[in-house]
Amino acid sequence: MLVNAKEMLDKALAGHYAVPQFNINNLEWTKSVLLACEEVKSPVILGVSEGAGKYMTGFKTVAAMVKSMDETLGITVPVALHLDHGTYEGSKACIEAGFTSIMFDGSHYDIEENVAKTKELVKLAHDKGVSIEAEVGGIGGVEDGVASDGEKADPAECKMVADLGVDFLAAGIGNIHGVYPADWKGLDFSVLAAIKEQIGEVPLVLHGGSGIPEDQIKKAISLGVSKINVNTELQLVFAKATREYVEAGKDKEGKGYDPRKLLKPGTEAIINECKNKIAVFGSANKA
Ligand code: 13P
Repeated sequence: MLVNAKEMLDKALAGHYAVPQFNINNLEWTKSVLLACEEVKSPVILGVSEGAGKYMTGFKTVAAMVKSMDETLGITVPVALHLDHGTYEGSKACIEAGFTSIMFDGSHYDIEENVAKTKELVKLAHDKGVSIEAEVGGIGGVEDGVASDGEKADPAECKMVADLGVDFLAAGIGNIHGVYPADWKGLDFSVLAAIKEQIGEVPLVLHGGSGIPEDQIKKAISLGVSKINVNTELQLVFAKATREYVEAGKDKEGKGYDPRKLLKPGTEAIINECKNKIAVFGSANKA
């Protein structure tokens, strides 16, 4: 069932768990994520970066694929199709293409411009029943070519953006996209608590969910994080399983080179990893 992400995140905030955002890259990814979430009855947000959208030949293709796959597989859990780190233009394009949720990432603008653009997009999105995420402060590292040094969010600025009527808010709290470096200092819970105090009942989003230790994930959820984004870890398990298949020479046995066989270990690895994350985030049986 394709829905916007507001209700599932409001429920997660009230129920003290987090809904996973799993980023999708192609048809196999989408199918694996949907099957995993249906199996354990977790609501899910399918994240699509602008780069991944382009790779899949455009937002309209993605929306059509997700909609019909959701129906054909008989998915019963709530599924939101969400733009990840959208530009102003990309956000508008996704609203038109049939996405049910968008993230406008105006964090690289000064706060006045971030507020002005976010405000405009809140209206456009809500007029079409689409939920909207905004961002304050930077998430470190590189997400699909979009780089940031990582800047912890200012709680007063978070309040300014939350008050615009955004449905959920991403805030930099020391989190990083991609693999965490060995000397990473961890999440800054004092900044997280100060933000929460300012923004009240607006659900918070934790980007860079790959590789954050379980105790930090649980503490972040207890402090008001209701959505956690995961991309890199699914890519890593897919690559590892595919590499093992090829290195074992299985692509040379029989018709092991058939893409349906070649990609099977990787897609199974994605399903397993999604279920692992859902167990930590507490979103199983919350659909
Ligand atoms: P990771 O790639 O670090 O899991 O982060 C995903 C993300 O935050 C997408 O916005």
